[in-house]
Amino acid sequence: MQTRDERQRPKWLLAGGRSRLGRALAERLVPDHDLVLTSSRPWEGEDWAESLGATRLVWDAADPNLSTRMTADLTDLELDGVVILAGSFPEQPIGSWTMDSLEATWRVNQAFPLLVAQAVAPRMSEGACLQFILDAAMHRPFLKRLPYTAAKAGLGALVPGLARTLAPKVRVVGHALGTALPGDHDDVEALKAATLLRRIGTPDDLARALRYAAESPYLTGQVLTLDGGWSIR
Ligand SMILES: NC(=O)c1ccc[n+]([C@@H]2O[C@H](COP(=O)([O-])OP(=O)(O)OC[C@H]3O[C@@H](n4cnc5c(N)ncnc54)[C@H](OP(=O)(O)O)[C@@H]3O)[C@@H](O)[C@H]2O)c1
Repeated sequence: MQTRDERQRPKWLLAGGRSRLGRALAERLVPDHDLVLTSSRPWEGEDWAESLGATRLVWDAADPNLSTRMTADLTDLELDGVVILAGSFPEQPIGSWTMDSLEATWRVNQAFPLLVAQAVAPRMSEGACLQFILDAAMHRPFLKRLPYTAAKAGLGALVPGLARTLAPKVRVVGHALGTALPGDHDDVEALKAATLLRRIGTPDDLARALRYAAESPYLTGQVLTLDGGWSIR
């Protein structure tokens, strides 16, 4: 196994590095990083990921053997950065809640990120940064998505505790992100108007923040809000 000093490029793992933001980040980071990407599904047919030279893993929150699988996949890997993007974004207004639907939301948005953090922490190099993609909704809840909001807020609340647990070797940072990639049915003009800066975010905004956190050795235990002022408007 190469040490950090022997590696020419930092090795980062993106958990949930296949769809939408995950892929956009992978494409932005690959010029100066070696990447390990995870998806809940097999990678056949994803030629773009192969062309990036990325290691591709299958980590599914529904897999009962997930922790064993992650430990096996990480053998002989040393990671200089980890970004946990995996999540789901279900509309679940009060009145629709059931134990099964709540557990499904929390499994992907909370249990999975925690299990990933537990698995990767021993594999991270000195000074590496573990970064969680949270949601600015943790400051201003989405009323039709309270279970999602609760899961992200819970993860955000764990950032300082995890930073204390993993210090001094590993730093932990969260990003409370506003809209960076809207859904097909979103009213983009309304989303822009709801921010102080009159625009939504972009994958480049998030990539910049991830690089900032990775390159800031005095930063740990904080959640950075990146939402154009949406949550304080
Ligand atoms: N898009 C935005 O503007 C925005 C704003 C604020 C926060 N965020 C947060 O940023 C992250 C990425 O957002 P996105 O819009 O790119 O979301 P997305 O398209 O829904 O992607 C979510 C990721 O979660 C993974 N995932 C889903 N189910 C999984 C499971 N059972 N096990 C393991 N992984 C699973 C997906 O991987 P596979 O499909 O490959 O399995 C995918 O990579 C999410 O955490 C989201 O809450 C996004």
